[in-house]
Amino acid sequence: MTSGAVIELAGVTKVYGGSGPAGVRALRGISLRFRPGQYVSIEGPSGCGKTTLLNLLGLIDVPTEGEIRWDGVNVADGSERERSRFRLRSIGFIFQRFYLLPTLTVRENVELPLRPRMRGRAERHARVSELLESVALADRAGFYPSQLSGGEEQRVAIARALANSPSLLLADEPTGELDSDNALKVLDLLETLHRERETTLIVVTHNPEVARRARRHLTLRDGRVESDLREEP
Ligand SMILES: Nc1ncnc2c1ncn2[C@@H]1O[C@H](COP(=O)(O)OP(=O)(O)OP(=O)(O)O)[C@@H](O)[C@H]1O
Ligand SMILES: [Mg+2]
Repeated sequence: MTSGAVIELAGVTKVYGGSGPAGVRALRGISLRFRPGQYVSIEGPSGCGKTTLLNLLGLIDVPTEGEIRWDGVNVADGSERERSRFRLRSIGFIFQRFYLLPTLTVRENVELPLRPRMRGRAERHARVSELLESVALADRAGFYPSQLSGGEEQRVAIARALANSPSLLLADEPTGELDSDNALKVLDLLETLHRERETTLIVVTHNPEVARRARRHLTLRDGRVESDLREEP
């Protein structure tokens, strides 16, 4: 069980390409607060800033202005090294294109994020087996990504994102390249993990059916929050 944090974006803007006339204002002053264990969807037209927002939440990129706070502490102002250490420990990221390393097996892909922290080989091996079990891929451990279906690849990516039991799980169009059967399986899996581990789950999607499964629904437009609907008290 992870002990979740309250995660906040405070006055966040993101400008790509400098402040000159060529700069793209991808986010224009976003303030949001996520309670631990929340399940949130983010929708909005192409180019409205969804991936940018997720990259900032995932500390893959830093805001131009504003803060990203975990329990009140700004986690976006550290060095790149500090940010990546924090990310590895606390955040899991799932992309539309699975980004598995093609020259590594399923087992090795999932093991990668464990290496810096879990020194013992046997311990790592056991952890990877448990993760592959949880995504129903124990029998594919020795396969290479090219030998898997799209749904299987995405499940490996999920196992990898979960390796260090993150308290925040970010997914950018996780079902975008899957057929509806596999999309359902991947969503079920994410939701089980969210429920059982009380992981905060934020899913960007163009698919209204996927979005409907969340309990809080954000819509972005033109770098701003257009609506923020909650089904919970
Ligand atoms: N690295 C970058 N450099 C310059 N501009 C960028 C960069 N990344 C994104 N942008 C611009 O910022 C805006 C927001 O992009 P973003 O990728 O966040 O949109 P999105 O909502 O995820 O769109 P989609 O639904 O198509 O994935 C777009 O106008 C895009 O062209
Ligand atoms: Mg995007």
